[in-house]
Amino acid sequence: MMTVKLSPRLLAVAELVDTNGSVCDVGTDHALLPCYLYSRGVKDITASDINDGPLVAARETIEKYIGADCPIRLVKSDGLRNIDYADNVIVAGMGGELIARIVSECSFLKPDISFILQPMTKAEILRKELYKNGFRITDEKTAEEGEKLYVIIKAQYVGKSEEVSEAFSYTGLCRDKKYLEKQRRSLSRAAESCKESAPDRSAMLSATAEEIEKIINEV
Ligand SMILES: C[S@@+](CC[C@H](N)C(=O)[O-])C[C@H]1O[C@@H](n2cnc3c(N)ncnc32)[C@H](O)[C@@H]1O
Repeated sequence: MMTVKLSPRLLAVAELVDTNGSVCDVGTDHALLPCYLYSRGVKDITASDINDGPLVAARETIEKYIGADCPIRLVKSDGLRNIDYADNVIVAGMGGELIARIVSECSFLKPDISFILQPMTKAEILRKELYKNGFRITDEKTAEEGEKLYVIIKAQYVGKSEEVSEAFSYTGLCRDKKYLEKQRRSLSRAAESCKESAPDRSAMLSATAEEIEKIINEV
């Protein structure tokens, strides 16, 4: 089998997977992550995507790296709609709102399933929706690729809805100073840009930025 080389972002996602369990990679696109996990000993893998093009690309990657008789299942599915079960559900490389929708529609929720989520945008909305829908975040990590800094969120279902603070929605459990500073800066910029048009919102955004500043000083 050819060696699969992952980007730092996908490698960080892979590191949160329990390789003893089954995996479903939702929105797999090129299927590099499933091929890597197969090489790390994961036996039961589903790679799914909503679009035909990525599924064709996924098939080509699997044949290139592993071979035509590879047991990785390819499934066409909008989110988890056509997926029966997985111990590890991965949703990476999509917007936070779409990831939140996909996770909230999961029909096979159990506390011991790991949801490994890598939002490209709106991580704050994803965190709020996770807690509202009965999930809890158990771990977070970051990955750097050039100028970009990605956050990866690991969550599990506990079945109890909870509201989180604005500050938590922007930081989660992440204590990487670079990430916290990035979040603080974007809140400060947003506060500044609506100072005249929406003063109440601007004040709320500034207060959240200040809370994050305190967290940064404690790290
Ligand atoms: C930017 S790619 C990310 C690929 C890979 N997961 C990664 O992180 O590198 C997003 C993929 O998600 C797929 N996608 C978008 N919406 C989806 C949905 N509702 N359900 C499943 N896949 C979806 C797209 O077709 C595309 O292949």
